[in-house]
Amino acid sequence: MKVAIGSDHGGYGLKLEIIKHLKERGFEINDVGCDSPASCDYPIYAKKVAAEIKDGSAELGILICGTGIGMSMAANKEDGIRAALCHDVFSAKATREHNDANILCMGARVIGPGLAELIVDTFLDTDFSNDERHVRRISLYS
Ligand code: RB5
Repeated sequence: MKVAIGSDHGGYGLKLEIIKHLKERGFEINDVGCDSPASCDYPIYAKKVAAEIKDGSAELGILICGTGIGMSMAANKEDGIRAALCHDVFSAKATREHNDANILCMGARVIGPGLAELIVDTFLDTDFSNDERHVRRISLYS
């Protein structure tokens, strides 16, 4: 599976840890930036990961900033994007099964790398349920 990942400066360090973890698991990763811990604007990277999902270059995306909030707000402005801010494993599983979320957002100032890896693994390893009621509910806002 191809996964697009992006961060701002606040999420840069955690992003590197997640990339290492996912490469070890055999995922193909496209890191759209940022490329250093220098201050930068998170919407740039939210749009880049969203574009990768929209044009089919990546199946799922991950966005990391300080809180995850700005990234999720920016990504959800893009057509076809369902970005979910998750800081627990239950939400990561539920948002794939119920919302068919295509981008996971996390805050590097909120959770540590151990929990972040569990959340990422759960998000990537969980399929959409395809349950009729969830398909209908998604169609009501897509
Ligand atoms: C950057 O200081 C911070 O505002 C950003 O990483 C993010 O938390 C925004 O939502």
